Amino acid sequence: MSQVIELKSHPLVSHNLALLRSKDTDSQRFRESAQRLSTMVMVAATESLNTVEQTVETPMKSTSEMILAEDVWLIPILRAGLAMVDVGLNLIPEAHVGFIGLYRDEATLQPKHYYKNLPDFSESAHACLILDPMLATGGSSVAAIQMLKDEGASDISLLTLICAPEGIKEVFAKHPDVSIFTASVDEHLNEVGYIVPGLGDAGDRYFGT
Ligand code: PRP
Ligand code: URA
Repeated sequence: MSQVIELKSHPLVSHNLALLRSKDTDSQRFRESAQRLSTMVMVAATESLNTVEQTVETPMKSTSEMILAEDVWLIPILRAGLAMVDVGLNLIPEAHVGFIGLYRDEATLQPKHYYKNLPDFSESAHACLILDPMLATGGSSVAAIQMLKDEGASDISLLTLICAPEGIKEVFAKHPDVSIFTASVDEHLNEVGYIVPGLGDAGDRYFGT
């Protein structure tokens, strides 16, 4: 698949990216714009979920609608991925939530794994949506995707708010079967692995730390 869906051309996406990026945006407004952007990314990423036809009786007549035919798993990468979970559960109340704890070692930029709570995905039809606002070097996302595959997951999408081209390249080199949905593909990484222009440290800004 190897596709990146970038939503920045939508006026509401661009408007909220401006809020999210600004160093003058406080944590409350940062959280609000992150949630609005996550909603738009989530809607795009769920467009191709598998569905099945169901008959519905309205007060007027019988009709049919397509309803979800597979389990949806939201998998936030802690911490910053938590920013996108409530949005996912609001849109898909039937969704399940698994967790992957990773942080980037600031010196080596390598992901350090500290927590995992995932099911055996091989038992039923599923779609896994990995949630992490930032894709920088790609190390964290590549590790998270591998952890899902190790548990039997096969249908995996990565939902982010901002990506660096370097991270996209790394994800596709290791996992060409994964699709990436994002509000923005930014310019590049700086010498310490931060996305430029980016927004700074997503977890710190979202949680006010
Ligand atoms: C951030 C971000 C990603 C990772 C991206 O997390 O939320 O998980 O960095 O960087 P990468 O693509 O180079 O791996 P961070 O390590 O700051 O942890 P946090 O969410 O706990 O703040
Ligand atoms: N993680 C962040 O939170 N921001 C970046 O720019 C890169 C990694």
